[in-house]
Amino acid sequence: MSRLDSMMRRLAAQRDGLEWGIGLIGALEGDIVDMGLGNGRTYDHLREIAPDRRIWVIDRVLQCHPSCVPPEQDFLQGEAEDMLIKLADATAGIALAHYDFGFGDKGKDVAEAARLSPLIAKIMVPGGVVVSGQPLVGMEQVRGPESVAPDRYCFYKA
Ligand SMILES: C[S@@+](CC[C@H](N)C(=O)[O-])C[C@H]1O[C@@H](n2cnc3c(N)ncnc32)[C@H](O)[C@@H]1O
Repeated sequence: MSRLDSMMRRLAAQRDGLEWGIGLIGALEGDIVDMGLGNGRTYDHLREIAPDRRIWVIDRVLQCHPSCVPPEQDFLQGEAEDMLIKLADATAGIALAHYDFGFGDKGKDVAEAARLSPLIAKIMVPGGVVVSGQPLVGMEQVRGPESVAPDRYCFYKA
């Protein structure tokens, strides 16, 4: 598969996965967290499809498109582990989490996702949904939207 096709599959999986997750949580109470602001694409989509939810965002740098800068009080700038610990104190619970941290090195990315999994599980409300670009551990894996190949994106229920 060309890198262009691979990138298109990833972006479509993110959009379809986030919309699927929002549908699945329905009226479940809780905030959203986008782990990995990056350019701000997934954050921008989340705020469009879930305008009434608080959306926390974690990244070690603020380097997004100027139109996608999160409100200061919702942006946790720093290393993932520290920021997830901080978030656990700040939120009453997360109903939908999107995991999109990464270096682009598959081995390191998978290891980091496994290391951060317990901290993610801890902030989720029961029945909450995690949509992830990397495999996580310790949560129930579920089949995501039909449009997303199972090896492309991962889906979990807390
Ligand atoms: C693939 S990008 C996120 C893309 C973003 N979701 C979007 O749609 O534009 C990954 C981001 O995660 C951040 N990141 C990766 N590992 C991190 C870590 N351990 N702690 C904090 N931020 C991290 C990087 O700085 C980068 O901005």
